[in-house]
Amino acid sequence: MDRKGLIKKYIDFFKLKNHKEIPNFPLVPENDPTVLFTTAGMHPIVPFLLGQPHPLGKRLVNVQRCIRTGDIDKVGNEVHHTFFEMLGNWSLGDYFKKEAIEYSFEFLTKVLKIPKEKLAVSCFLGDETAEKDEEAASIWMKLGVAKERIAFLSKENNWWGPAGNTGPCGPDTEMFYWRSKSSPPKTFNPKDNNWVEIWNNVLMQYNKDSFGKYNSAKQKNVDTGMGVERTIAVLDGLTDNYLTSSFFPIIKEIEKISGKKYSKIEGETRAMRIIADHIKASVMILAEKVSPSNIERGYVLRRLIRIAIRYGKFLGMKDFTKSLVTPILKIYDNYPLLQKNKEFIIQELELEEKRFNETIELGIRYFEKIKSQSRREITGKDAFLLYQSYGFPIEMTQELAKDSKIEVDILGYKKELAKHQELSRTASSGQFKSGLADNSEQVTKYHTATHLLHAALRQVLGTEVEQRGSNITAERLRFDFSYPQKLTACQLQEVENLVNEYIKSGLDVKRDELTLEQAKKSGALGLFEHKYGEKVSVYTVCGKDKISKEICSGPHVTNTKELGHFKIIKEEASSAGVRRIKAELIDETK
Ligand code: ALA
Repeated sequence: MDRKGLIKKYIDFFKLKNHKEIPNFPLVPENDPTVLFTTAGMHPIVPFLLGQPHPLGKRLVNVQRCIRTGDIDKVGNEVHHTFFEMLGNWSLGDYFKKEAIEYSFEFLTKVLKIPKEKLAVSCFLGDETAEKDEEAASIWMKLGVAKERIAFLSKENNWWGPAGNTGPCGPDTEMFYWRSKSSPPKTFNPKDNNWVEIWNNVLMQYNKDSFGKYNSAKQKNVDTGMGVERTIAVLDGLTDNYLTSSFFPIIKEIEKISGKKYSKIEGETRAMRIIADHIKASVMILAEKVSPSNIERGYVLRRLIRIAIRYGKFLGMKDFTKSLVTPILKIYDNYPLLQKNKEFIIQELELEEKRFNETIELGIRYFEKIKSQSRREITGKDAFLLYQSYGFPIEMTQELAKDSKIEVDILGYKKELAKHQELSRTASSGQFKSGLADNSEQVTKYHTATHLLHAALRQVLGTEVEQRGSNITAERLRFDFSYPQKLTACQLQEVENLVNEYIKSGLDVKRDELTLEQAKKSGALGLFEHKYGEKVSVYTVCGKDKISKEICSGPHVTNTKELGHFKIIKEEASSAGVRRIKAELIDETK
């Protein structure tokens, strides 16, 4: 089965079960400073899992492009990827365990026609904080899954959440497919690699409170995730995801350029997989107009491109990254953003390859020199020099060192990096993990403050000001907007005063559900690209006149007087033609 076939079957199936399709959201999450990239389909709908009403209702379905860098070191085997697509269906306080499991079973056995003999499931084992999920197991058994095919596993394997310290969470139940040609054993052993996990149903039935207690949740949600690459591979009886329609055209192109054959020599096969995976992920990130750099997303991107180039070198390939764009765009021709930004993608790949080519040889020579001194360790200083002067991401140095069986002093490297003035917050602390935004009171206040700031900027500077990005934590907001020059002290003061006036006036914040058309007509601001479903939430802040009207998934306060005092901390350039403001809310009652 090809990827498009599976995606269509899944979405059509859940539409028949009254689910509404939501868009495939951008890879760069909005308003979620805890992650660099969207890591799961549920990510953009966290506010709704936390209780915000969704304009499309309580049953949702989509396919979501995701990036996970946690397993990046494992890329090179048959099944690990940086970029992947996740199918998901959600119940926001609507159906729960019984229907969720029945839908999954029906889809697997009736639509995908998997014989139930080839399926196994895992359920939550229970511990001192939450009970064993006998209910899920009994639903599976009623559907015909044999008792021996149900494994009960601990929290480590079969539990999700909460997103922060408190909030919705619950057990999950995972589905496994027997991929081997040999007949499946009677009893399910989760440690046997022939059982491949293809789908996960998270059953959010608890709310963890600040005392660490798991209370029964008022809104019980279902959040599911099925990996496209893995599922189409196992359905075709393949043990290697790179042989599926999600990857093989890229591998073919690499074979053509390198003149080498896939699946012949282990090291070369591994290199081909890493190149295909990393350049595909890079193309997806570039499509969102992120450029390679030394911080945050740009650093992840740089690292992916450079590691791919190094493996390309190993296969004798040169100036090759842009040649892989065509097969990647062909596979993903359902993402218009890729086509739209094709030129940017190619330019940035070429540029990064050129930059890296200028130093890679010298860097490798420097590395060889260290080796020839028969030293057993690359010092922090060496690793930093390789990074700083030759552009080697630390992971690449580690990789080279591993091949030569030498250690790298990572702590020393981090110290050097921290000393360096242009220290990158993310790169240094290794924050490539996933996490989720919270909807705490403070974050909610900052959401509303952001709308007021946006409105005030348009009032003071003119309506050519457009939002370019926003990033909120419980401590501050950060807002990027289009404007050609630095703001004067006077303008900044005016903007700050205006926001404080809005706050003091005690304006109501109102939420409406409109169709996208209605929202546009009503003058609501939004990023009208690619992102919204047919119905959207619109938040309006109103005094005598309308102050602000924006398409937004929230959450927001109900009245502006809840915000406290607004203070701009900093104004600076973000990129060409884009300014960035950092601001805080000060609670004057304390
Ligand atoms: N959010 C769940 C996962 O990522 C479905 O597996």
